[in-house]
Amino acid sequence: MLLITSLLLVIPCFALVANAFPSLNSRADLSVSGQAALFRSKAGLAEKIKGVMLASIRTSWEQGTAGTGILEIDEPEYSVFADSPFTHNGYLPVGTLRIALSAAVRQTSDGRLSQQINDALDQAALDGASSGSHVLLGTFAEPSRADYWRDAAEKQLNYLLYIAPRTSTGAISMRNDERAYWNDGVFMGPPFLAYYGAVTNNQTLLQLAFDNIRLFRDALLIDGPTGKLWAHIYNEETASFEDRGIWGTGNGWAALGIVRVQETIKKSAFADQMQDQISTLESWMKEILDGMLVTIRESDDLIPNYLETNNTFGDASSSAALASVAYRAAVISPNAFGSNYTEAAGRLANAVLNSVDDLGVISPYVDPLVWDQIGLLSTEGQAFALMMIAAMRDWLLTKGQNVTL
Ligand SMILES: *[C@@H]1O[C@H](CO)[C@@H](O)[C@H](O)[C@H]1NC(C)=O
Ligand SMILES: *[C@@H]1O[C@H](CO)[C@@H](O)[C@H](O)[C@H]1NC(C)=O
Ligand SMILES: *[C@@H]1O[C@H](CO)[C@@H](O)[C@H](O)[C@H]1NC(C)=O
Repeated sequence: MLLITSLLLVIPCFALVANAFPSLNSRADLSVSGQAALFRSKAGLAEKIKGVMLASIRTSWEQGTAGTGILEIDEPEYSVFADSPFTHNGYLPVGTLRIALSAAVRQTSDGRLSQQINDALDQAALDGASSGSHVLLGTFAEPSRADYWRDAAEKQLNYLLYIAPRTSTGAISMRNDERAYWNDGVFMGPPFLAYYGAVTNNQTLLQLAFDNIRLFRDALLIDGPTGKLWAHIYNEETASFEDRGIWGTGNGWAALGIVRVQETIKKSAFADQMQDQISTLESWMKEILDGMLVTIRESDDLIPNYLETNNTFGDASSSAALASVAYRAAVISPNAFGSNYTEAAGRLANAVLNSVDDLGVISPYVDPLVWDQIGLLSTEGQAFALMMIAAMRDWLLTKGQNVTL
């Protein structure tokens, strides 16, 4: 009762301050109550956003990314952000497992999930693993099919450990036909390795997830205009950057992967022994958020598709991805990630949620295959928007706001 009374006293004061000194350049009320109002008026769009995502023809990384979006928005008790994600939570996570089933049915004989599409020739090494956690989830969330799920997950793990090429530093290559680091890979591989380690109580795999992030960061981190950020692609075959640009979505992929591995380690049986890894991952997440959130454009409240070029556009994909990470960070570590992070996330969320069209498409966003052009449909962008809405909900709940989807 005491708490409630003092909240009632405090909230109107914040509201007054926010009105008296509106955050410069923002179109939105970024206070907690302002963001709760935004959420209540717009979060219902998640159904449409999801509809576009599920209607899309999906390649391997898109399948896994879509699964993560569904999991976090519809079946959050099974996501690594929940308190006890590695146990049966009393219901069947049907949305995630439907995605996982298609990934497993399209597994190639070498173990790559979702790879059996377009003659299986796209040469991705890590992308299929983005569905790995959703497949492994089936082993305890759907006991009647546990053997099927376990076989498929084991084959995918086996591919990563023993078949995929390794770079000179020992990192699992992004590509099957060459040794290369792509920042996208941080979302594709390490979260599955960590999840496998947490579910089977195998610290070696948790450490391997951490080490792969570390090695990718070592290869890709460069000095950007706003701090150290991740270049997109380094190819070891040619010993050169294939894309040295600081791509918004790429930094989003890296941060999305980092925060999930961090949470997975924290929820595992090895959290106490891996405190250093947990705090290191947090510092790498902060590095990306600090470098990227200051680049939000005043003209449209979006992250630029690429930094360091004038020939760019505000990109709703990276904006949604990074907003989701900022909301997660504020819940995980409120002392390290204060209100400036959630206000930045609120600017991005406001822009993204107000862009949704009649079909449920967010815009403008980068073409997932042509990284310097605007695309008409981005499965990953739609999934990032779901991750953002889910993360915003969880943050608002920790702030005592009564929000549901
Ligand atoms: C952990 O996983 C690796 C890779 O599958 C395996 O070689 C190792 O034996 C496992 N360790 C334990 C303790 O289960
Ligand atoms: C938020 O504020 C802290 C403390 O002033 C600062 O270290 C951090 O870089 C800021 N981050 C963002 C994204 O504005
Ligand atoms: C972008 O435009 C600004 C202002 O015109 C200019 O100073 C800067 O050099 C340009 N940057 C690039 C990479 O072209």
